[in-house]
Amino acid sequence: MMFEKEEIASLNLKLKGSDASEICKFFIENLNDKITFGSSLGIEDQVITHILLNLKPDFHIFTLDTGRLFPETYELIDRTNNKYKTKIDVIFPDYHEVEDFVKLNGINSFYKSIDMRKQCCHIRKLNPLKRALDGYDAWFTGLRRLQAITRGEMQIVEWDSNSNLLKINPLIDWSENDVWKYINDNKIPYNTLHDKSYPSIGCQPCTRAIQKGEDIRAGRWWWENPDTKECGLHAKG
Ligand code: ADX
Ligand code: SF4
Repeated sequence: MMFEKEEIASLNLKLKGSDASEICKFFIENLNDKITFGSSLGIEDQVITHILLNLKPDFHIFTLDTGRLFPETYELIDRTNNKYKTKIDVIFPDYHEVEDFVKLNGINSFYKSIDMRKQCCHIRKLNPLKRALDGYDAWFTGLRRLQAITRGEMQIVEWDSNSNLLKINPLIDWSENDVWKYINDNKIPYNTLHDKSYPSIGCQPCTRAIQKGEDIRAGRWWWENPDTKECGLHAKG
């Protein structure tokens, strides 16, 4: 289903001032089973999981398993499934693509160049995302404007030109404090690495702990400039 620019603008106007649960409810009611949620198991995503499963206990949630995640993240998939009596769909990359790439470039080639890092993200995240979103009209994400300079212009509702569907960001206006307050107030399970100075968690080889005073995404692809640090899932097309 295509959405016109004007329709998206009017949805944003309509939803301005709505809380995250109202935003989720609106799209669940209007899109039924044509909307899904991509969770990286980060704190924002855990909040959205909690909201969605309270609204609709069988809401479809998927996570892209790059094969290079932290053990703590896998453990959180289990804890989340147990708490909410759900089964997060774990999506793998195409094994031919991974095997060929590794054979050609090595197992840790993401450190060799930005181009190779992007190719790895492409194979392990972007291509699987395409498969995960196939057949849907929209997806929820846990993006927040304050996460990165690359995210400052994002809206609640956006046209995702990479995937050709609607992207809904219910926490777009939230601060990191808002997210933690919601997690603590509602006793939502979260990744134990957050208590060890990992505010933003991606793949294990591409994420490090941050120092006091550093930006929350300073530990992601820490060898790159802040303005290139996107894996491509949310790059502007
Ligand atoms: S990234 O571009 O740096 O990797 P980030 O970790 O901030 O993205 O996540 C932003 C949003 O993208 C998450 O809230 C989630 O909705 C989606 N996302 C990121 N990684 C994954 C993943 N592995 N599986 C599913 N969705 C993901
Ligand atoms: Fe590969 Fe690192 Fe991207 Fe994960 S974050 S897909 S390991 S380059």
